[in-house]
Amino acid sequence: MTEAPFDEPFQRFQNWFEEARQKEPNDPNAMAVATVDAAGRPSLRMVLLKGHDEHGFVFYTNFESRKGRDLLENPQAALLFHWKSLRRQIRIEGPVSPVSEAEADEYYHSRPRQSQIGAWASQQSRPLESRFALEKAVAKYAAKHPIGEIPRPAYWSGFRIVPDYFEFWEDKPFRLHDRLVFQREGDAWRTEKLFP
Ligand SMILES: Cc1cc2nc3c(=O)[nH]c(=O)nc-3n(C[C@H](O)[C@H](O)[C@H](O)COP(=O)(O)O)c2cc1C
Repeated sequence: MTEAPFDEPFQRFQNWFEEARQKEPNDPNAMAVATVDAAGRPSLRMVLLKGHDEHGFVFYTNFESRKGRDLLENPQAALLFHWKSLRRQIRIEGPVSPVSEAEADEYYHSRPRQSQIGAWASQQSRPLESRFALEKAVAKYAAKHPIGEIPRPAYWSGFRIVPDYFEFWEDKPFRLHDRLVFQREGDAWRTEKLFP
């Protein structure tokens, strides 16, 4: 094990992310998020990364959805990026906290108006009787907010994963892949390589 400066895994993420932005056909910011409920049952799904820096990795969602409830009960998550065009994956793990109200407001209001209405209309992850019921809900909220700023629903916000673990995986010939781990220790990172 050796020590690495604090910004190193973030910078390494940024370099790979930039390459993915240029090479992936779509959604280079798509990542799987794994959560665990209070009974210990894991689940995962894709979301879009909407911000990242040394303070953490942010995505937005409905806090009453399955992932929202899991993270409020058990604020730990694992993230996975897999960029097929680059043959690379990055694993990230760490504790999670909600973003500030101001941060959520700013992002919510940057979204297209229809998406803001969609956030009101969708009771994400709860049973939906029919597509028509969803369309009716969209029409209802569009009529309620024909003009002017649409307030952000209290249940719609963002989560920030604060990494204490990164693993950078890169494809190499004959399955002898490279795996580089960064584990947080205070304000520094311990690094080590793993067998593929
Ligand atoms: C590429 C992709 C990106 C997605 N981005 C988001 C997102 O940023 N936020 C979100 O709530 N759901 C997003 N979804 C939908 C989720 O995968 C999921 O269906 C939804 O959030 C409900 O998950 P849950 O029931 O586990 O809470 C995305 C799906 C895909 C395939």
